[in-house]
Amino acid sequence: MTNAPVPLCDILGQYQALQTDIDAAVLKVLASGQVILGPEVLTFEKEYADYCGAKHALGCGSGTDALLLALAALDIGPGDEVILPPFTFFATIGSVMRVGAKPVFVDIDPLSYNIDPKLIEAAITPRTRAIMPVHLFGQCADMSPIAELAKEHNLHVIEDAAQSFGSCYERRKCGTLGVISCFSFYPSKNIGTLGDAGMVTTNDEALHKKMTALRNHGCDVKYFHKYLGWNARIDAIHAAILRVKLPYAETWIAGRRAAAKRYDALIEQYSLNGFFQRPVVEPYGRHTFNQYVVRVPAGHRDAVVKYLKSENVGCEVYYPLPLHLQECALHLGHGVGDFPISEDAAKAVLALPMFPEITEAQQRRVLDVCAAYVRQSLRLVA
Ligand SMILES: Cc1ncc(COP(=O)(O)O)c(C=O)c1O
Repeated sequence: MTNAPVPLCDILGQYQALQTDIDAAVLKVLASGQVILGPEVLTFEKEYADYCGAKHALGCGSGTDALLLALAALDIGPGDEVILPPFTFFATIGSVMRVGAKPVFVDIDPLSYNIDPKLIEAAITPRTRAIMPVHLFGQCADMSPIAELAKEHNLHVIEDAAQSFGSCYERRKCGTLGVISCFSFYPSKNIGTLGDAGMVTTNDEALHKKMTALRNHGCDVKYFHKYLGWNARIDAIHAAILRVKLPYAETWIAGRRAAAKRYDALIEQYSLNGFFQRPVVEPYGRHTFNQYVVRVPAGHRDAVVKYLKSENVGCEVYYPLPLHLQECALHLGHGVGDFPISEDAAKAVLALPMFPEITEAQQRRVLDVCAAYVRQSLRLVA
């Protein structure tokens, strides 16, 4: 057994593997003098739309910008309500509050951690304008019932696909499952850049045109501002880096899926399946394992985190506090107990090291340390 540290993800390793091509692509942009938008961005947008099977893709500054562009393009703002899960990254609610709309929470399914479609209808009011499902950890939310409800109540579906590039629902890729889909290229995502960038995709011509203007201060003609936009542009350097990476996306997704399978088997082999509840893969799609998240028995999670870190094994808690209990959302009037499934998940989830290149030896090291924790804690109890 090697005691080498195991990182949570390996951004530097992926850069080093492609360094020659990435450096050349970045230098080409620098030499071109076109460092914001421009031909590199246009080509990347076309390639990205083709990958997702969407008609249009539009690069932007971050996944957060992508969500803001979607909401602004649909004229969602003060007086409107947007339905979303309380168990997700802050940007999902942050973007809704930033445009002045009211977030309305719907609890999650305890197995997939995604919004529970069965609970959505009760949250719909005459003010509801959109449902914003999040495809958490690389697995799509259950989109068919969500699409049906949206149709029935005349609502928009905005996909927060920040963690789920390449994930599928009934053979359709993320990016085509809502009226607008939002992606992040934060470095640890399924396809990440070396900085911040994001993307929206849509099949709607008019929304694409409007978001193109919104991304650039609302201009459709230079210095003539049709909408109240902002600077949500993508740098050409990120498009160039992502163009180098895109052809590897399927290989990396296969690497993540193989690593998840290995974790599943190793957890069994180490007799840790009583301690760790493995991720549940829904039958309806392709999980891309942006994160491999296990559930740890109540009371043990934070101690496991501490132990893993002390042994130089990376891990993370996504997310320790649901959105309805965040300080800046308390004015919405929620308290402990309002969304119990999300609150339980926040106390129990643990993301283990996950990246396409992770080796079996590294995964064994992770589980050696976990098993040592369990042995130690049982001894303390005895
Ligand atoms: C679910 C979710 N939504 C939105 C975002 C925002 O993306 P970005 O960090 O690129 O702004 C993230 C990023 O971590 C995310 O995980």
